[in-house]
Amino acid sequence: MKHIFHKGTDLEKPTFLLLHGTGGTETDLLPIAGMIDDSASVLGVRGNISENGMPRFFKRLAEGVFDEEDLIKQTKELHQFLDTAADDHNFNRDHLLAIGYSNGANIAASLLFHYQNSLQGAVLLHPMVPRRGIELPDLTGLPVFIGAGTNDPICSPEETRELAEMLEKSGATVEVHWENQGHQLTKSEIDKAAEWYRATSIKK
Ligand code: MLT
Repeated sequence: MKHIFHKGTDLEKPTFLLLHGTGGTETDLLPIAGMIDDSASVLGVRGNISENGMPRFFKRLAEGVFDEEDLIKQTKELHQFLDTAADDHNFNRDHLLAIGYSNGANIAASLLFHYQNSLQGAVLLHPMVPRRGIELPDLTGLPVFIGAGTNDPICSPEETRELAEMLEKSGATVEVHWENQGHQLTKSEIDKAAEWYRATSIKK
């Protein structure tokens, strides 16, 4: 997959896996990674799907309606890519924290829904429920931060709560932070994610 890797100054820190929103690129979330921890390594990945020229991580049938078959396929591909990238760039595969926004948050959530040890933690910014009706892996103790909007037209508050409950039921430790700026990312949301990161059990 098209990606960038920047080696951090402190290799004890988790590597941040950056997953952009629809129409974004592998570099979009670099400033956000820097605000959360500027000494961590970063792996920014570009989604393989092009929707009218806009990169995404999986196909959709309509706004908010996912192509489930493609979601499963692309999630597997990303999961396998992480193994290869860890070998190629020499980072610890077991020490990855995903930071995803919108479509990138949805594929990060999908990694959690399908693979037990793909991520050590996740910052999900304006995510949706990637799939329903499946049993999630055991996610005991896995820390997840969800940034959501009370008036997000794409990810409703009900869906945010549903996602948090599904992850919690599988053992994840979830913190939901609410903003009221629709689907937009806000500085205060990232500040909260940074605060959450400093307090999590993830080795730093
Ligand atoms: C998606 O398709 O993943 C969600 O609708 C978010 C987005 O607009 O990318």
